[in-house]
Amino acid sequence: MPNMVVLISGSGSNLQRLIDTQDEHGMKISLVISNRADAYGLQRAKQHGINSKVLSHKDYSDRSTYDQALAQLIKSEQPDLVVLAGFMRILTPELVNQFLGRMINIHPSLLPKYPGLNTHARALEAGDEHHGCTVHFVIPKLDAGPNIAQARLRILASDNANSLQQRVHQLEHQLYPQVVAWFAQDKLQMNAEQSWLDGQPLKPQGRVFDYS
Ligand code: GAR
Repeated sequence: MPNMVVLISGSGSNLQRLIDTQDEHGMKISLVISNRADAYGLQRAKQHGINSKVLSHKDYSDRSTYDQALAQLIKSEQPDLVVLAGFMRILTPELVNQFLGRMINIHPSLLPKYPGLNTHARALEAGDEHHGCTVHFVIPKLDAGPNIAQARLRILASDNANSLQQRVHQLEHQLYPQVVAWFAQDKLQMNAEQSWLDGQPLKPQGRVFDYS
Protein backbone atom coordinates (compact mmCIF):
# COMPACT_ATOMS: atom_id res chain seq x y z
CA MET A 1 0.00 0.00 0.00
CA PRO A 2 1.45 3.44 -0.86
CA ASN A 3 2.04 5.65 2.15
CA MET A 4 1.72 9.29 3.07
CA VAL A 5 2.88 11.68 5.75
CA VAL A 6 0.31 14.25 6.90
CA LEU A 7 1.36 17.64 8.30
CA ILE A 8 -0.98 19.53 10.61
CA SER A 9 -1.03 22.50 12.99
CA GLY A 10 -4.51 22.37 14.46
CA SER A 11 -7.82 20.56 14.72
CA GLY A 12 -7.03 18.04 12.02
CA SER A 13 -10.56 17.49 10.72
CA ASN A 14 -9.11 16.91 7.25
CA LEU A 15 -6.70 14.41 8.79
CA GLN A 16 -9.71 12.72 10.40
CA ARG A 17 -11.39 12.36 7.03
CA LEU A 18 -8.21 10.93 5.52
CA ILE A 19 -8.08 8.42 8.38
CA ASP A 20 -11.77 7.49 7.98
CA THR A 21 -11.52 7.05 4.21
CA GLN A 22 -8.25 5.12 4.18
CA ASP A 23 -9.92 2.02 2.72
CA GLU A 24 -11.42 4.09 -0.10
CA HIS A 25 -8.40 6.19 -1.10
CA GLY A 26 -5.96 3.34 -0.49
CA MET A 27 -3.07 5.23 1.13
CA LYS A 28 -1.63 4.35 4.50
CA ILE A 29 -0.86 7.26 6.83
CA SER A 30 2.55 6.31 8.19
CA LEU A 31 3.22 9.49 10.19
CA VAL A 32 1.43 12.66 11.32
CA ILE A 33 3.69 15.64 12.02
CA SER A 34 2.58 18.74 13.90
CA ASN A 35 4.55 21.91 14.57
CA ARG A 36 2.34 22.50 17.63
CA ALA A 37 2.18 20.19 20.64
CA ASP A 38 -1.41 21.26 21.38
CA ALA A 39 -2.80 20.40 17.93
CA TYR A 40 -5.96 18.35 18.45
CA GLY A 41 -5.12 16.36 15.33
CA LEU A 42 -2.41 14.60 17.37
CA GLN A 43 -5.13 13.08 19.57
CA ARG A 44 -6.97 11.93 16.46
CA ALA A 45 -3.81 10.15 15.24
CA LYS A 46 -3.26 8.54 18.63
CA GLN A 47 -6.87 7.31 18.82
CA HIS A 48 -6.33 5.48 15.56
CA GLY A 49 -2.90 4.07 16.44
CA ILE A 50 -1.12 6.25 13.88
CA ASN A 51 2.44 7.38 14.62
CA SER A 52 2.78 11.08 15.30
CA LYS A 53 5.60 13.48 16.08
CA VAL A 54 5.75 17.07 17.24
CA LEU A 55 8.44 19.14 15.58
CA SER A 56 8.14 22.56 17.18
CA HIS A 57 9.39 25.51 15.19
CA LYS A 58 10.16 27.14 18.56
CA ASP A 59 13.06 24.71 19.04
CA TYR A 60 14.84 26.02 15.95
CA SER A 61 16.64 29.32 15.48
CA ASP A 62 15.32 30.00 11.99
CA ARG A 63 13.04 28.76 9.25
CA SER A 64 15.82 27.17 7.26
CA THR A 65 17.10 24.90 10.07
CA TYR A 66 13.53 23.98 11.02
CA ASP A 67 12.72 23.02 7.45
CA GLN A 68 15.91 20.95 7.21
CA ALA A 69 14.83 18.95 10.26
CA LEU A 70 11.30 18.69 8.88
CA ALA A 71 12.55 17.40 5.53
CA GLN A 72 14.68 14.78 7.31
CA LEU A 73 11.73 13.62 9.38
CA ILE A 74 9.44 13.38 6.35
CA LYS A 75 12.08 11.49 4.35
CA SER A 76 12.60 8.99 7.16
CA GLU A 77 9.17 7.61 6.22
CA GLN A 78 9.96 7.43 2.49
CA PRO A 79 6.45 8.65 1.69
CA ASP A 80 4.84 8.42 -1.72
CA LEU A 81 2.87 11.56 -0.88
CA VAL A 82 3.17 14.45 1.59
CA VAL A 83 -0.18 15.96 2.55
CA LEU A 84 -0.47 19.42 4.09
CA ALA A 85 -3.72 19.47 6.06
CA GLY A 86 -3.91 22.81 7.83
CA PHE A 87 -0.13 23.06 8.28
CA MET A 88 0.13 26.76 8.96
CA ARG A 89 3.73 27.42 8.07
CA ILE A 90 5.38 28.91 5.03
CA LEU A 91 7.81 26.36 3.62
CA THR A 92 11.26 27.18 2.26
CA PRO A 93 11.97 26.46 -1.42
CA GLU A 94 14.75 24.10 -0.25
CA LEU A 95 12.17 21.90 1.46
CA VAL A 96 9.49 22.16 -1.21
CA ASN A 97 11.91 21.34 -4.03
CA GLN A 98 12.66 17.96 -2.41
CA PHE A 99 9.02 16.90 -2.72
CA LEU A 100 7.92 18.44 -6.03
CA GLY A 101 5.03 16.51 -7.52
CA ARG A 102 4.65 14.56 -4.26
CA MET A 103 3.38 17.30 -1.92
CA ILE A 104 -0.18 18.61 -1.94
CA ASN A 105 -2.03 21.26 0.04
CA ILE A 106 -5.65 22.14 0.70
CA HIS A 107 -6.59 25.81 0.83
CA PRO A 108 -9.92 27.39 1.75
CA SER A 109 -10.51 29.47 -1.38
CA LEU A 110 -10.89 29.11 -5.11
CA LEU A 111 -7.23 29.69 -5.94
CA PRO A 112 -5.78 31.81 -7.49
CA LYS A 113 -8.28 33.91 -5.52
CA TYR A 114 -7.31 34.68 -1.93
CA PRO A 115 -3.99 33.01 -1.17
CA GLY A 116 -2.95 33.48 2.46
CA LEU A 117 -5.29 34.04 5.40
CA ASN A 118 -8.89 35.21 6.10
CA THR A 119 -10.15 33.80 2.84
CA HIS A 120 -13.83 33.62 3.86
CA ALA A 121 -14.05 37.23 4.97
CA ARG A 122 -12.26 38.35 1.83
CA ALA A 123 -14.67 36.45 -0.44
CA LEU A 124 -17.61 38.03 1.39
CA GLU A 125 -16.12 41.50 1.27
CA ALA A 126 -15.52 41.20 -2.45
CA GLY A 127 -19.18 40.26 -2.97
CA ASP A 128 -18.23 37.03 -4.73
CA GLU A 129 -20.97 34.77 -5.98
CA HIS A 130 -18.95 31.60 -5.35
CA HIS A 131 -16.42 30.41 -2.83
CA GLY A 132 -14.85 27.05 -2.02
CA CYS A 133 -11.60 25.18 -1.59
CA THR A 134 -8.70 24.05 -3.72
CA VAL A 135 -6.25 21.16 -3.61
CA HIS A 136 -3.01 21.95 -5.42
CA PHE A 137 0.52 20.67 -5.80
CA VAL A 138 2.97 22.62 -3.66
CA ILE A 139 5.66 24.69 -5.36
CA PRO A 140 7.99 27.22 -3.71
CA LYS A 141 5.61 30.16 -4.28
CA LEU A 142 2.92 30.26 -1.56
CA ASP A 143 -0.50 28.86 -2.56
CA ALA A 144 0.50 29.11 -6.21
CA GLY A 145 1.16 25.54 -7.34
CA PRO A 146 -0.96 24.03 -10.11
CA ASN A 147 -4.52 23.31 -9.07
CA ILE A 148 -5.69 19.72 -8.99
CA ALA A 149 -9.30 20.13 -7.94
CA GLN A 150 -11.76 22.61 -6.52
CA ALA A 151 -15.09 22.25 -4.76
CA ARG A 152 -17.29 25.32 -4.96
CA LEU A 153 -20.49 26.56 -3.45
CA ARG A 154 -22.72 29.58 -3.87
CA ILE A 155 -22.40 32.25 -1.20
CA LEU A 156 -25.77 32.81 0.46
CA ALA A 157 -27.13 36.20 1.50
CA SER A 158 -27.27 34.82 5.04
CA ASP A 159 -23.59 33.76 5.11
CA ASN A 160 -21.02 35.28 7.41
CA ALA A 161 -17.33 34.37 7.63
CA ASN A 162 -18.09 31.71 10.22
CA SER A 163 -20.89 29.95 8.35
CA LEU A 164 -18.90 30.11 5.15
CA GLN A 165 -15.87 28.62 6.86
CA GLN A 166 -17.99 25.71 8.11
CA ARG A 167 -19.63 25.09 4.76
CA VAL A 168 -16.29 25.16 2.94
CA HIS A 169 -14.80 22.83 5.54
CA GLN A 170 -17.47 20.24 4.65
CA LEU A 171 -16.41 20.49 1.03
CA GLU A 172 -12.76 20.07 1.97
CA HIS A 173 -13.66 16.80 3.62
CA GLN A 174 -15.13 15.51 0.34
CA LEU A 175 -12.38 16.85 -1.87
CA TYR A 176 -9.17 15.79 -0.13
CA PRO A 177 -9.83 12.01 -0.01
CA GLN A 178 -10.80 12.12 -3.70
CA VAL A 179 -7.51 13.73 -4.70
CA VAL A 180 -5.51 11.32 -2.52
CA ALA A 181 -7.32 8.43 -4.22
CA TRP A 182 -6.32 9.72 -7.67
CA PHE A 183 -2.73 9.90 -6.51
CA ALA A 184 -2.83 6.41 -4.98
CA GLN A 185 -4.25 5.04 -8.23
CA ASP A 186 -1.40 6.68 -10.17
CA LYS A 187 -3.84 8.87 -12.10
CA LEU A 188 -2.43 12.19 -10.96
CA GLN A 189 0.92 13.81 -11.78
CA MET A 190 2.59 17.19 -11.89
CA ASN A 191 4.57 17.79 -15.08
CA ALA A 192 6.19 21.11 -15.97
CA GLU A 193 4.22 22.84 -13.19
CA GLN A 194 0.93 21.58 -14.56
CA SER A 195 -1.42 19.02 -13.05
CA TRP A 196 -2.33 15.97 -15.14
CA LEU A 197 -5.19 13.60 -14.47
CA ASP A 198 -5.74 10.40 -16.42
CA GLY A 199 -2.98 11.41 -18.82
CA GLN A 200 -4.61 14.76 -19.68
CA PRO A 201 -3.51 18.23 -18.56
CA LEU A 202 -6.06 19.81 -16.22
CA LYS A 203 -7.48 23.28 -16.77
CA PRO A 204 -5.99 26.04 -14.55
CA GLN A 205 -8.80 25.68 -11.99
CA GLY A 206 -8.34 21.87 -11.89
CA ARG A 207 -11.25 19.41 -11.81
CA VAL A 208 -14.25 21.36 -10.47
CA PHE A 209 -16.92 19.85 -8.22
CA ASP A 210 -19.82 22.28 -8.19
CA TYR A 211 -22.07 22.21 -5.13
CA SER A 212 -23.81 25.51 -5.87
C1 GAR B 1 -8.56 23.99 6.58
O1 GAR B 1 -9.66 24.81 6.35
C2 GAR B 1 -7.51 24.21 5.52
O2 GAR B 1 -8.04 24.51 4.27
C3 GAR B 1 -6.77 25.39 6.08
O3 GAR B 1 -6.67 25.13 7.45
C4 GAR B 1 -7.83 24.41 7.86
C5 GAR B 1 -7.40 23.22 8.69
O4 GAR B 1 -8.51 22.56 9.22
N1 GAR B 1 -5.49 25.54 5.48
C6 GAR B 1 -4.96 26.72 5.16
O5 GAR B 1 -5.51 27.78 5.38
C7 GAR B 1 -3.59 26.64 4.51
N2 GAR B 1 -3.29 27.86 3.86
P1 GAR B 1 -8.38 21.14 9.90
O6 GAR B 1 -7.21 21.25 10.88
O7 GAR B 1 -9.68 20.96 10.62
O8 GAR B 1 -8.12 20.14 8.84
